[in-house]
Amino acid sequence: MADQQARTDGDKRPTEIPVIRWEEPPEGPVLVLLDQTRLPTEEVELVCTDAPALVEAIRSLAVRGAPLLGIAGAYGVALAAVRGFEVAEAARALEGARPTAVNLSVGVRRAQAAHQAALAKTGDPAAAAAAALAAARTLHREDAEASARMAAHGLALLEELQPGGGHRILTHCNTGSLVSGGEGTAFAVALRAHREGRLRRLWVDETRPLLQGARLTAYEAARSGMAYTLLTDNAAGSLFAAGEVDAVLIGADRIAADGSVANKVGSYPLAVLARYHHVPFIVVAPVTTIDPDTPDGASIEVEQRPGFEVTEVTAPQVPVTGAGGGIPVAPLGTQAYNPAFDVTPPELVTAIVTEAGAVSPVTAEALGTLCASSRQV
Ligand code: MRU
Repeated sequence: MADQQARTDGDKRPTEIPVIRWEEPPEGPVLVLLDQTRLPTEEVELVCTDAPALVEAIRSLAVRGAPLLGIAGAYGVALAAVRGFEVAEAARALEGARPTAVNLSVGVRRAQAAHQAALAKTGDPAAAAAAALAAARTLHREDAEASARMAAHGLALLEELQPGGGHRILTHCNTGSLVSGGEGTAFAVALRAHREGRLRRLWVDETRPLLQGARLTAYEAARSGMAYTLLTDNAAGSLFAAGEVDAVLIGADRIAADGSVANKVGSYPLAVLARYHHVPFIVVAPVTTIDPDTPDGASIEVEQRPGFEVTEVTAPQVPVTGAGGGIPVAPLGTQAYNPAFDVTPPELVTAIVTEAGAVSPVTAEALGTLCASSRQV
């Protein structure tokens, strides 16, 4: 079950946004999420008491973004275990909630494996539940550490590509602290550049249809005090043509073994534009996003979302009329093509930056070596 609570701290926003946390009130353990569908206007927490509620929160994008989905999936397994539900069933439901971000499976499987191992060793369900929770906490902490390392590697690469430059970075979707145990992936690089006085401007794509750029990245950029400008996705071409972009930095939901990158729909057109305009196109993602079991881009399952996300606009406190509960912006019955992600081939990716270092040029061999070395750390 999920329950919504409005925060009562008004304007006194926390420095760190508590996007996800485990709590143990007397009624029993819960997973508390910042409901990202309500940002930027409201900071509302969503309290999940079981795995089905978390599955719904994942589907509705209350909790979203590849690294955070991994963390949430792991806590979801722990929640099922601690509350005495069937863990294998909960794990299956969580893994199947969204298909593209591989981190979700990684997180779920890691917590499930810890649960199984402890159960086999001790035969004690409470000890097994504690092991699942410990695995989720470890993943959460590791993601924060990975964020900091990605930021350092990413900024070093930018400085190499454009020595002494004040970087003008274009980004798409949302990749900051809202999707991470730390400060995120691509956004963490921009944030580090900002803190070191090396960021001239962050160009923020609004990211149709669900506006993760406008609602979430602009929110993070405003909070951090960096110079940022929002643009409609279709304005990116003229921005490149005007010579206003030094680098594109995006995150990833799944990186295939050959280096193909699935990320929020609209990323691939940016890669094409970047190549035409000789601008580096850089992907920043933790090693957990690289999936050695997905051989190439064609093997990545791209989530298809409901058409009403395109044919309607939803805004809180506005009378709703459309089938999806929003304001229609297209004739009733209009069919929509609404893939959540697209796939950029490796030859358009200048570099993939991870916590274990950067790969450039992007080849299957180089990615394989990076993954092998990160497993030894
Ligand atoms: O559908 P979403 O909002 O979960 O999509 C998120 C993205 O595409 C992000 O760019 C990606 O997960 C990278 S997050 C570091």
